[in-house]
Amino acid sequence: MNRRAIVAANWKMNGDTKLVSSMVESLSGYVPPAHTSVVICPSYPYLALMSDKISQQGLNENIALGAQNANEHLSGAFTGEVSTNMLTEMSVKYVIVGHSERRSIYQESSEKVAEKVKVILDAGLTPILCIGESEQERIEEKTEVVLTQQLQPVVDAIGVERFKDVVVAYEPVWAIGTGKTASPEMAQATHAFIRGYFANLNEEVANKVPLLYGGSVNASNCDELFAQADIDGGLIGGASLKVDEFKVICSAAKGS
Ligand code: 13P
Repeated sequence: MNRRAIVAANWKMNGDTKLVSSMVESLSGYVPPAHTSVVICPSYPYLALMSDKISQQGLNENIALGAQNANEHLSGAFTGEVSTNMLTEMSVKYVIVGHSERRSIYQESSEKVAEKVKVILDAGLTPILCIGESEQERIEEKTEVVLTQQLQPVVDAIGVERFKDVVVAYEPVWAIGTGKTASPEMAQATHAFIRGYFANLNEEVANKVPLLYGGSVNASNCDELFAQADIDGGLIGGASLKVDEFKVICSAAKGS
C-alpha cells in the first residue's frame, strides 16, 4: 500500500498569536508516528509567525505549514486575496481548497475549485482538496453522485496523473462542527468509493492518493476512524484548537 498518513489542523477563523505559540511549544520534541505528516493551517496573518516559530524550534522535519485558501490568479487587482507565490514565501507547503464553507458561503463552484487546485500544484504546493455531501444529499442517497460531481471537474482540469500530488479530504457537511461523526463503517465505505473512483481512472494514483476524513474528529473517535483501510488521516477543525487533544489525534495516525 505505502501511503503517507496526514493529520491536518484547519483552524478556520480561530486562534491568535497565543495559540500559535502554545501549539508550536507543545509540539516541540514531539515526533509524529512513522510515515505521518502533521500540517497546521492557521489563518493568513499567523503564517509568518508560525513559520518562524517552527524553524526556531527545529520542527521543520515534523510539522508543515498549510494555508486555508489561495486565489486562482498569480497576481493582480484582487483586493483581499492571497496568491500561491505569497504562500510559498511564507514557507507554506499545503493549501486547503474547496472546503464546504468556501463552497457554500463564498459560492465556490467545483470549476473554481479545479482552477485553484491547478494553480496550487503549479506552484509546487500540495492541495488538500475537500469534498463532501450535505445531510439532505446523504438522505437522498446522492452521496456518490455529489462526490463524483465535485471530483470530475478537477480531474478534467489537471488530469488524473497529477492526483499523485493531491490530498483528498472527505468531509460530510453534516458532520462538520456538529459533533455528529460518520461511523467508521460509513466513512470507510465512502472512502472506498472515492478510491474506487480513482482506480477506474488509474490504479497507481488510486493506491497513492491519501484520503483524509474530516468532520467532528476528536481524541475519542480518531483511533477507530484511522484504523479503517482507506482512511489515511484526518482534517481536524475544532479539536485542532486544543493543543493536547490535537497531539493525541496526530499520534493515532498510521502511515505505511
Ligand atoms: P470539525 O472537526 O470542527 O468538525 O471541522 C472539520 C472541518 O471542517 C475541517 O476542515
